[in-house]
Amino acid sequence: MTNSISVSAHGPLGVFDSGVGGLSVLPAIQALMPHEDILYFADQGHVPYGPRPLAEVRDFSEAITRFLLDEGAKLIVVACHTASAAALIHLRATFPEIQFVGMEPAVKPAAETTDSGVVGVLATAATFQGELYASVVERFAQDVRVLPSTCPGLVRQIEAGDLTGPETRRILEDALGPMLAEGIDAVVLGCTHYPFVAGLIGEIAGPGVRIIEPSEAIARQTQRLLVQSDLAREPGDAGVTRYLTSGDPAVMRRQIANLLGVAAQPVGLQWEDDARLVA
Ligand code: DGL
Repeated sequence: MTNSISVSAHGPLGVFDSGVGGLSVLPAIQALMPHEDILYFADQGHVPYGPRPLAEVRDFSEAITRFLLDEGAKLIVVACHTASAAALIHLRATFPEIQFVGMEPAVKPAAETTDSGVVGVLATAATFQGELYASVVERFAQDVRVLPSTCPGLVRQIEAGDLTGPETRRILEDALGPMLAEGIDAVVLGCTHYPFVAGLIGEIAGPGVRIIEPSEAIARQTQRLLVQSDLAREPGDAGVTRYLTSGDPAVMRRQIANLLGVAAQPVGLQWEDDARLVA
């Protein structure tokens, strides 16, 4: 248990996701805050989160947060819509001295700019069940039709590195076809894995549909919180990003190379009784 937490500007940013999804958020954070160290954790021992009960994802998220805080993290970016839906409120209540940045589907910018009045949201089943999604639709999309789709199997395809193959295309065509027939002019990527198939989504949806994903807004929010709380690092040496996984580090190394073009040496962690992460 983390009893007293001391937060220092020298600590890294903790970033986590069920897998490689958070890697779609990482470049925006690195670009905006190049001198911050980052500790990225992928819970690939449990991916995908989307079909799991919210309570289970909440418990994983709490244990991951404890691990990252024990490693000195000064702020946690929950770079996963599913974990944000399941755990953000709980994490903020459990760790009141820590700042969290979470993901919520970017329905607001879609609703504000739609001409057709119909927008699509692609996210996991768990994200659609959470209070966060209901509240975003309620607050920002009163006058807009919002069409949800869970894209079953898409996270697995992306984890497997299949960004353009026939099965990935079929999943996206099944999700987007009915939305396109209803006249969407924007599609919100409400899962951090999905930006990696934005090319295919654009191909299927065509140029009349804007693809909205929040990574830059998340990076700006992270920077704002760091600056406000005096936790931003002074410009100096370039920050270092370390990668951790509860899955196979060799697999993650290839995924990072394929998705980001970066040569990394991820480190493996183990779950103890699915309740505690150990190095
Ligand atoms: N990247 C995730 C999200 O943003 C999790 C997907 C999953 O593990 O099912 O929702």
